[in-house]
Amino acid sequence: MTAIPPPLALLAELTHRCPLRCSYCSNPLDLERRSAELDTATWLRVFDEAAALGVLHVHLSGGEPAARTDLVALTRGAAGAGLYTNLITSGIGLEPVRLEQLAEAGLDHVQLSIQDVLEETADRVAGRPGAHARKRAVARSVVALGLPLTLNAVVHRGNIDRVGAMIAEAVTLGARRIEVAHAQYYGWALRNRSALLPSAGQVAAAREAIERARAELQGALVIDYVAPDYFARYPKACVNGWGRRSLNVTPSGKFLPCHAAETIPGLTFWSVRDRPLDDIWERSPAFAAFRGTDWMREPCVSCPRKAVDFGGCRCQAFALTGDAHNADPVCTLSPMNEVVRGAAQTPLDLGQVPASRRFGESAAREA
Ligand code: SF4
Ligand code: FES
Repeated sequence: MTAIPPPLALLAELTHRCPLRCSYCSNPLDLERRSAELDTATWLRVFDEAAALGVLHVHLSGGEPAARTDLVALTRGAAGAGLYTNLITSGIGLEPVRLEQLAEAGLDHVQLSIQDVLEETADRVAGRPGAHARKRAVARSVVALGLPLTLNAVVHRGNIDRVGAMIAEAVTLGARRIEVAHAQYYGWALRNRSALLPSAGQVAAAREAIERARAELQGALVIDYVAPDYFARYPKACVNGWGRRSLNVTPSGKFLPCHAAETIPGLTFWSVRDRPLDDIWERSPAFAAFRGTDWMREPCVSCPRKAVDFGGCRCQAFALTGDAHNADPVCTLSPMNEVVRGAAQTPLDLGQVPASRRFGESAAREA
């Protein structure tokens, strides 16, 4: 029996390949290539070991998990290990026959992303003509199979004014739940932040639209709302605290405390290719680095919220202040809060075209 409580959720990034090119993608700028991906047998071992460790949920994610030709086998393996299986998908590549196979393999839930409700803008953000119509068809197939469906709508400056219409779309498509999530500024979204960040007025109007819809749709649709950090007083408890509840396995098998952990320099990530999960969870120096509260500095050390939000997000602290040991600068108690307030008050630059997600970014930056 270990002194470290077991994780509850595993984010399995099966691949970074994706048919879409969203400019707010939270995948790293340096995407892992197909040749580096774990094979089927290794993923199946990971699922078995995760279940043995205490994990309850697996999120089959990416990139686009349907890009893996062995997705049905992986789903069957995860379900067979006793994990609750949630497929996080763009819907592209999920033909009705494949969805039937996934349902038969034990898939428990589908979380389908939408980019907008206007086909033209949705397809432009996705970088793929016809994507939105395809998603609508996939949503109908999921519901027809009796699988619970959640729509996931990432909102940003370009679509936040249509939050109400996105909620209506969820009702039309038969979803049980919609998650309206502000873009989180990591990876590609951080790079494109000045084109994506909404104004304070847009954020307030979206919040009102959500409250109205919650009142009208009570009992018919669950509406989850992920508030934007940049307009908050205190940070979110990112990943419920580093190394506390969740873990992330990258396409090549690196075992991370969160999806952006590789952006923090000086951390070495052990691989599921070399070690069993319980060994990594309990002994990996990268997990130990920010577990608990001993690593904290002021103002977190003497703050009553330190066991509530764990100082916020380590990756955001590094990205915006240059040191992952600092309080997340989203926090209004942080002496570096101005880096966030300044960004939140930058005038809208509606003419800016955000960069689309693509492979080979490090090579492009070096060129
Ligand atoms: Fe959280 Fe630290 Fe801010 Fe307190 S000072 S609210 S622990 S980030
Ligand atoms: Fe890494 Fe928040 S994304 S700790």
